[in-house]
Amino acid sequence: MNVHISLCQPLIDPSYADSVRQQILSTYLGPGPTTQEFASYLASYTASRYSLLTVSGTVALSVASYALGLRPGDEILIPAYGVISTINAFTSFGLKPKLVDIDLQTGCMSPTELKKRISSKTRAVCFVDFSGYTGSNLVEISQFCQDNNLPLIEDAACALGHHFNGKSAGTFGTIGTFSFSVPKIVTTGQGGALVTKSKKYFKNAQNFIDNGDSNWRKTNTVRGIGNNLRFNDILASFGLVQLKDIKQRISLKSNVYKILRRSLSSKIFKVADNTPPLHNIVFTHKPNALIEYLKKNGIEAIRQYRTLSQHPIYTHLADTEFPNADFWTKYTVYLPFGLSLTENDAHYLVDVLTHSPIALDSVFEP
Ligand SMILES: Cc1ncc(COP(=O)(O)O)c(C=O)c1O
Repeated sequence: MNVHISLCQPLIDPSYADSVRQQILSTYLGPGPTTQEFASYLASYTASRYSLLTVSGTVALSVASYALGLRPGDEILIPAYGVISTINAFTSFGLKPKLVDIDLQTGCMSPTELKKRISSKTRAVCFVDFSGYTGSNLVEISQFCQDNNLPLIEDAACALGHHFNGKSAGTFGTIGTFSFSVPKIVTTGQGGALVTKSKKYFKNAQNFIDNGDSNWRKTNTVRGIGNNLRFNDILASFGLVQLKDIKQRISLKSNVYKILRRSLSSKIFKVADNTPPLHNIVFTHKPNALIEYLKKNGIEAIRQYRTLSQHPIYTHLADTEFPNADFWTKYTVYLPFGLSLTENDAHYLVDVLTHSPIALDSVFEP
């Protein structure tokens, strides 16, 4: 059998390489006009006032927390299930995360659980648009944060292209962040961005990623602490050409996802809007057996993410139970989802899954 469908193969149109080539030949290599153009395009695409590019989605989250004035020891509420990057972005800056269980259907922070976990020590909330999920939980949590005067960081790393009630992902909170790592709809290999309506937070972030004072080259004076976490024009040229092409990229993903959804129905994860989720996630009580079966059929699949307090470094965060996060940890399998997945691949995947001796479950029936 020579079928091999890898987990996440990006799709790179040859014209993207032309843009990068032209950028290199222009000799603008560092943070310059193309970085600015990419940021402006992103601001306009997401209907945000300000946008700032940085080196990764993880750094975008750290910088967002710093820009908001969060400092070591401050408590931030984050979802109990998901990628390690979100929590690490905050703990590496000295913040104290507290976990909030997720909603079973959405994979996102549950508003009910958030209300139980909030305390007088809470200084901020980070909502993750899980696999691109925006939806009513996000709207409710955004309102709750406003009512309680708490800044909300929306981790929209996986959600570029998603909208809910006409609003772009990344714009529901005080600051939103994106990632341009390889699996994302727009990838620069590594990269990230933040978006915000607030001039103050934008300026704080801009200064921080430029050694503490974005004017220091002109004034020879630095007023704040910072680092060099700026983006560069070579990667910006690569990202910009994809962002301009995002409709087409989403439509390729939609065509594949529609095939999966038509056959697998509620057994494959769906998000709130009509844009497909970033990942193709199924649920089964025998994830390892399913992965083995898929592997025998040339399909790469993995168990990804876990309840964050299960990581040895974060066991102290298990101060309560997180049954829904544990459910997702135990029963999810992540199927191939890269943008180069073809409709033929999707039909093959459906065929293999339909003949699977390992039953798929529905997320709605734990
Ligand atoms: C939800 C979420 N947040 C943050 C990140 C971190 O982004 P990056 O890999 O660009 O640092 C990721 C990356 O996959 C992510 O999925």
